[in-house]
This record gives sequence, structure tokens and C-alpha cells, in this order.
Amino acid sequence: MRVLRDPFNRPVTSLRISLTHRCNFRCFFCHMEGEQDCRRELSTTEIEKIVMVASSLGMRKVKLTGGEPLLREDITEIVRRITPHVDEVSMTSNGFYLEEYAEKLYEAGLKRVNVSLHSLNQQIFEKITGVNAVEKVKKGIKAAVKSGLKPVKINMVVLKGLNDKDIPRMIEFSKNCGAILQLIEFQPIQYGAPYWKKFYYDLSLVEEELKENSKDVLVRELQRRRQYYLRNGGIVEIVKPMHNSSFCMNCTRLRVTADGKLKPCLMRNDNLVDVKPILESHDLKELEKAFEEAVSRREPYWKG
Ligand code: 5AD
Repeated sequence: MRVLRDPFNRPVTSLRISLTHRCNFRCFFCHMEGEQDCRRELSTTEIEKIVMVASSLGMRKVKLTGGEPLLREDITEIVRRITPHVDEVSMTSNGFYLEEYAEKLYEAGLKRVNVSLHSLNQQIFEKITGVNAVEKVKKGIKAAVKSGLKPVKINMVVLKGLNDKDIPRMIEFSKNCGAILQLIEFQPIQYGAPYWKKFYYDLSLVEEELKENSKDVLVRELQRRRQYYLRNGGIVEIVKPMHNSSFCMNCTRLRVTADGKLKPCLMRNDNLVDVKPILESHDLKELEKAFEEAVSRREPYWKG
């Protein structure tokens, strides 16, 4: 099976597709998947074409992101159409519509989901997201677990002085739901950039504490992320990308922006490959070449 490698010999095996920039939340720190704002959205057919070609080049995992992907009216259709082409389709969601969608998505072929939940405290939740929706998101997470999506991961971006005290409760909640908690370091990207100095929270000490309370530590292949299997039964994963050259060296992702550009790195917008015109021309060979070009532009952002 063919797999593309970039100039740093990193295999490219996963594709992250932004389906829309629309979102019903207004998280003040949102990185927008590192994308420039736009109103364009790819059609179901265009997405399927992209996934077919990506898959033939070795990208066998697809993650659907946004904005909020569940705001796309055709979301179940998108999942249904791309599932046959790859090994795994997953999604990141803010969880708001998940209670309504979890089962339909599972039936359409979705394997797993990451749900953002940065606090269980309504006031803090609202300060972060701009909406009063913590109970709805909690229901969404429970519905996702019940539907058979596995694993369900809870994404918590840790923000100094805002939600850093909530970590123990989040560990407990995730464990009780049967979900994995991902603690994510705040990155200074897009909307988040001006707030970074104020809210960045280094997870090193938290990680040491987790280590002490773990019976097992698993290192995931993707970006060398560490997963702590706690003695109390919880599972916590740490995502610590800043100044982390081993994170970048183990990155296997290529991105697709909402307006149809191949994006080699979350952190950069100066090396995109526009495939929108190619999608209109139906030339799959040209699309393949565009993927090769994007992969050839991949470069670790944080170097040793
Ligand atoms: N830094 C780190 N994580 C972020 N996310 C959004 N913005 C940032 C940022 N500036 C998270 C979202 C979601 C995931 C896709 O990325 O909360 O869980």
C-alpha cells in the first residue's frame, strides 16, 4: 500500500478536514484550526473526491472538524459517503447537537468523537464559550458513549486562572462517563493569540502528578502523546505541542481547509495548496499531484 512521506521522512497517514467555519459557540481562544476565516464550504461530492484520492495515497484516517461540523445539514451524508474509502472516520464537536446526532453518526459509520468541554461549572463554561450549554454538552457526551462511538474523548484546553482548578472534577466526570480526558495546552493561534500570555498554563506539573497516580503510561504513535492510566480507573491524555520537536516529528497529518486548500501545518498559512479549481475540473490525477505537492511542503514547525 502506497504511503506518502514528506522531506523529513514522516509518513502522512491521516487527513483532518474542516467542514465549515460556522459555529454556535464563541470560544474566545479558538484557533479556527489555524485557518483564515471564509464562508466557502466544500460539497459532499468534493469531500468524497478528496478522501478517495487521499486514501489511495495512504491517508486512511479522516477527522472531521469545523467550526462545528454538526452545523452542516449534510453531516450524516458526508460520513456515510467517506466511510467506505478509509479505515476510520472521527470528528471533533462542541457537543451541543451530539445528543440528537450521536446514533445517526454511528450508523453512518463514524467510529469515534472528541467533544470539547473546558469546564463543568456553568459560569466558567459560559465565560469560555459565550453560551449557557454545559448541561447540553454533558448530555451529548453521554449520548455519544451510549451510541457506541469509541473512544469518546473530552477535549479540555487548560487556561490559567480560568479552568485549571477544574482538572480533578473533569478527570472524575470523564471516568464516570467512560470517556478519555485530553488535557490540551493553549496555543497562540488565530483568536487565541492575544490571550496567550494571560491564560497559557504549562501542563508539566499536572503531568508529573498524573504519572505518580498512574498504573500504566502508553505513548501514542500520533505526535508521541502520552496517555496515563490512573489507578482510580480514569484515562488522561496530554497534548503539549508548544516548542515540542518530538510532537512535530511524529505528526502524520495533512489538513484540508473549509474552502478547499491542502494545509501542511496547523501553525502556518503560507504554504497552502488550493485544490478548489481542480475539484471543479474532475481531474483526479491532478488532485493526486496537489496532494504530493502539499506533502512535499510539510516541515516540522518546532524543530530540535
Ligand atoms: N489552543 C489549543 N486548543 C485549542 N482548541 C481551540 N483553540 C485552541 C487553542 N488556541 C481546541 C478546541 C477543540 C480542539 C479541536 O482544539 O477546543 O477541542
